[in-house]
Amino acid sequence: YDVKWDAVAAEKGGYEHFMLKEIHEQPRALKDTMLGRLEEERVVLQEVDLTLDQLAQINKVYIVACGTAWHAGLVGKTLIERWAHLPVEVDIASEFRYRSPLVDEHTLVVVVSQSGETADTLAALREAKNRGARVVAVTNVVGSTVSREAHDVIFTWAGPEIAVASTKAYTTQLEGMVLLGLYLAQVKGTLLSDKIGGIINALKRIPAQVQEILDQESLIKELAKSFVKVEDAFFIGRSLDWAVAMEGSLKLKEISYIHAEAYAAGELKHGTLALITEDTPVIALATQRDVFDKTVSNVKEVKARDAKVIGLTYKGNTSLVKSVDHVIYIPETLDELAPILTVIPLQLLSYYVSVARGCDVDKPRNLAKSVTVE
Ligand code: G6P
Repeated sequence: YDVKWDAVAAEKGGYEHFMLKEIHEQPRALKDTMLGRLEEERVVLQEVDLTLDQLAQINKVYIVACGTAWHAGLVGKTLIERWAHLPVEVDIASEFRYRSPLVDEHTLVVVVSQSGETADTLAALREAKNRGARVVAVTNVVGSTVSREAHDVIFTWAGPEIAVASTKAYTTQLEGMVLLGLYLAQVKGTLLSDKIGGIINALKRIPAQVQEILDQESLIKELAKSFVKVEDAFFIGRSLDWAVAMEGSLKLKEISYIHAEAYAAGELKHGTLALITEDTPVIALATQRDVFDKTVSNVKEVKARDAKVIGLTYKGNTSLVKSVDHVIYIPETLDELAPILTVIPLQLLSYYVSVARGCDVDKPRNLAKSVTVE
């Protein structure tokens, strides 16, 4: 009896690709990232040491990153503005670096990087430090250059991510944004402790809720079949749904080579609507309760152009189903935490579309896991 095995297959732990394995590791990764950081009504970020006096000097936050990490930053912006009442700009590292950004000792710069080695992000970090800013890093790699050069570090505990397309690094970065947002609000006193306690409770339920979505994998696999021949797709949403739409669109582009665009749902009518036809599937994210009705009006606009629409909303929402062709339901949570859930079906969708189109899922053409050149 000849046992055949190879080290790479063994590392995939029974999954066909690293990406699928990493998608399934998210409940664990999210749990690990909150471990030891949540008390009943308080977050504990041992590696960040900002006093109230220091924070009182800060009048602006910049979040700087590339690719998927930049998308996590877009969510971070809304959370920090909403919870800590600080104005936040989010910038692509290669743009920030060369624009002479208005950064000084009153600016808090947050760099987000899975690898902690991305050249553009590192250059932005150094530029920010030169201009006197305090730099907080959110990174997945202990000992990485970014983690060593930043003043404060929030480690995500996703574990090694092998697939080029980021999945568990992104959701743990989102969690890092939640923790940072809560921390800043706590130090500044802009959120009452019972409100912080409510968010903490909801956050603790997220890993099990991610698992619930993963358990519906076969539904998404089925939906993916209709994307095999597609050439263009749109992801739309408002507010935090828009930020996740960008990540969903990037995933589809990266690994299935389908052209995809993410659009703020309310902006479609200012031009992009011209591109919507019956051959353009639209994925409409509709979780954010404050803009739900507005998003539904935008969904109706694309339906009127015969687009096939897949909606995504909370279980228990009975109205979206009337305006779309299919609905993917996610468990109910606070709107601020919804991005961690909504991205899961989008990751699975891209994965199965990529497999169905025969693409190299883990190593897409022209892309590298970590880009160490500017
Ligand atoms: C590369 C990867 C992306 C990643 C980006 C930023 O382009 O292909 O998946 O989001 O770099 O990487 P970082 O390690 O800084 O998060």
